[in-house]
Amino acid sequence: MLTATDLVKQYPVRSGEGVVHALSGVSLTLGDGEILGVVGESGCGKSTLAKLLVRLEDPTSGRVELDGVDLTAARGAELRRQRRRIQMIFQDPYSSLNPRLRVGQTLSEVLAVHGLADGGRERRVGELLEMVGLSGGFAARYPHELSGGQRQRVGIARALAVEPKVLLLDEPVSALDVSVRAEIMNLLVNLRRDLGLSYVFISHDVAMVRHISDRVAVMYLGRVVEIGGWKSVLDRPEHPYTAALCQAVPAPDPTRSQPIEASVTGEVPNPAAPPSGCPFHPRCSLAEDECRRLDPALLPLRPAHEVACHVAARRATEPSAA
Ligand SMILES: Nc1ncnc2c1ncn2[C@@H]1O[C@H](COP(=O)(O)OP(=O)(O)OP(=O)(O)O)[C@@H](O)[C@H]1O
Ligand SMILES: [Mg+2]
Repeated sequence: MLTATDLVKQYPVRSGEGVVHALSGVSLTLGDGEILGVVGESGCGKSTLAKLLVRLEDPTSGRVELDGVDLTAARGAELRRQRRRIQMIFQDPYSSLNPRLRVGQTLSEVLAVHGLADGGRERRVGELLEMVGLSGGFAARYPHELSGGQRQRVGIARALAVEPKVLLLDEPVSALDVSVRAEIMNLLVNLRRDLGLSYVFISHDVAMVRHISDRVAVMYLGRVVEIGGWKSVLDRPEHPYTAALCQAVPAPDPTRSQPIEASVTGEVPNPAAPPSGCPFHPRCSLAEDECRRLDPALLPLRPAHEVACHVAARRATEPSAA
């Protein structure tokens, strides 16, 4: 239902000339009722992807479609209508809640702006709070009177107020105490089930993504380098970067003479001066000459599982090659 095609986003370099390649051609789909996890190190473009998907920012090139409607072309009333259908949840809801408004006022304001629940706004506010596990009494509280977990619940209620189909969750629990994280994760799982929502769930934490996702996309330096079912990708990664990220040697595959034993060295390259060929090659212990010259395409190496790696692609076609 949500489709991104070849999304590119370049930002001007803050000091001097050139551009930061924040996203370099990302394509992916999010199915009805699905949770797509997006994982990768800091600076790989996860938040940029989120901002383009909800149209907080325009892509340099590429398209975003929701149920066949081109969001990148939508303007005015049509854009507002489409925006309601995809809502974003941020890491720190405090910065996006007006500190001078009571929780109830924040929620009724959203309803009013969108012309929702006319006449029954107070009741709807109560319903929204209940949906996120808060009692009606929270309507009278100010953001500073709430715990981090309660604030994130209010952030979720505010997103749900406009009856979206898709939630984009950018590190939604990373700022919370460990003890509260599981509660919010469970709330999200239940809301997806009860409301038939779809999520793009962004995190740098593989364990978190593993816990919640149906499918997983692994990002590196502005690209998706591996995407597929969570178990296939995280338990039997094909890309050396995914393998290193999971910090686990993939389960032995009897059709392979050698398991992938990848290790990552060095730092993430500067996205204003990305390396030639495969963006991962300077840090990859398996890199070969081809990797330095040619940028690998995402190829379906297993059913519903795509990988952008020359070495993995060759292993898949020549399983017995050393
Ligand atoms: N407005 C901007 N101007 C210039 N560069 C930007 C801007 N926004 C993001 N970038 C750069 O684009 C790249 C991708 O950033 P992004 O915030 O999408 O990464 P991320 O994966 O969300 O990282 P993190 O895990 O730290 O949140 C980074 O190199 C970042 O510095
Ligand atoms: Mg981010």
